[in-house]
Amino acid sequence: MNILVTGGLGYIGSHVVVCLVENGYDVIILDNLSNSDISVLSKLEKITNRKLNFKEIDLGIEDHVKDFFKKNTNIEGIIHFAALKSVGESVRKPNKYFQNNLNATINILKYMPEKVPFVFSSSCTVYGSAMKQPINESTPHGIAESPYGKTKQLCEKLINKKFFESKNFKGISLRYFNPIGAHQSGLIGENPKNIPENLMPYLTQVVGGRRKVLTIFGDDYDTKDGTCIRDYIHIMDLAEAHIKAIDYLINIKVTKFLEFLNIGTGIGVSVLELVKTFEKSTGLKVNYSIGKRRPGDIEKAYAQTNKAKQILGWKPKYTLTNALKSAWNWEKKSLI
Ligand code: NAD
Ligand code: WQD
Repeated sequence: MNILVTGGLGYIGSHVVVCLVENGYDVIILDNLSNSDISVLSKLEKITNRKLNFKEIDLGIEDHVKDFFKKNTNIEGIIHFAALKSVGESVRKPNKYFQNNLNATINILKYMPEKVPFVFSSSCTVYGSAMKQPINESTPHGIAESPYGKTKQLCEKLINKKFFESKNFKGISLRYFNPIGAHQSGLIGENPKNIPENLMPYLTQVVGGRRKVLTIFGDDYDTKDGTCIRDYIHIMDLAEAHIKAIDYLINIKVTKFLEFLNIGTGIGVSVLELVKTFEKSTGLKVNYSIGKRRPGDIEKAYAQTNKAKQILGWKPKYTLTNALKSAWNWEKKSLI
């Protein structure tokens, strides 16, 4: 079966492409390379031992998307990753985020064939600053912490109101918590084009010598050691959740279906715990210092995950140690 993977050369999309091929799917990758590099394609071909179908397309351009679906009538499933994801940049350039993330999603939904299974990359950011932990899927959308977060909330609303309610539509919106780590080959991983905003790539770049010091943003939160709590999920577990989601949608008999599912481990880990676990599992020192709180950071966010387990039969297999070792393996290889 042919699965269209938008944003398939990015961090999460590339890992999902590997899993799709391993599970017997054919893939068509669309990406405009705004936050990825074409070299990822040959790495994917090396890992999968397969020539892959890639088209450079900006999904924000309506005519290009229309034309793509006119010429490619054999799409049997869609996993839509393509979006801009830098929270900080979205605060500085909100219009760029609203235009890119919303237009790409609207164009795909508008021109894709009806009833084709659709998996959307959503985020725990839709909950805003949820008070109650762990966060379950019926927690309402809170106030978005950033324009980026707002684009995810709006895309979920669009999918629900404009497409699910008015058409035959089968979709799952996966709300990822904090994906970290890399494929075991060390050939693909998280490689942001600019200075990393996220903890994991920043930490590995400090240890690898690309950056001097990791600033831990605040140690005066109301948590076990004063640093923020998050739910870090191994990228290969996250990738597996997409396979389960697309399999599920392909196999259900109903013509209308929509679910929103948390994808996390359910385990809250503090920033200091993550740093210490990294040091223990790699034997390497992390040069860090405690700094001020980062504006907009929430104190705690970790998932309740039983809905994904119930519906998809998915649960994470990897530990935090596995994820941290794989992140370091990727950073090490990219230094060679
Ligand atoms: P990424 O930036 O590595 O990958 C996104 C890919 O989409 C990039 O290759 C980029 O070039 C492409 N893209 C962006 N806009 C495009 C457009 N208009 N047309 C075509 N291609 C376009 O990001 P990622 O971490 O792999 O995230 C994938 C998805 O998951 C995004 O939707 C993101 O918002 C969501 N998400 C990510 C995280 C995370 O922490 N990484 C957490 C929750 C949700
Ligand atoms: C994790 C923890 C920081 C960097 C982001 C997006 C969210 C979603 C998930 C996409 C926090 C601390 C970080 C550093 C630090 N993504 N930190 N020093 O903030 O949970 O969420 O990713 O949808 O929308 O906002 O992830 O990796 O930035 O931070 O101390 O240099 O690490 O304060 O507690 P976050 P993160």
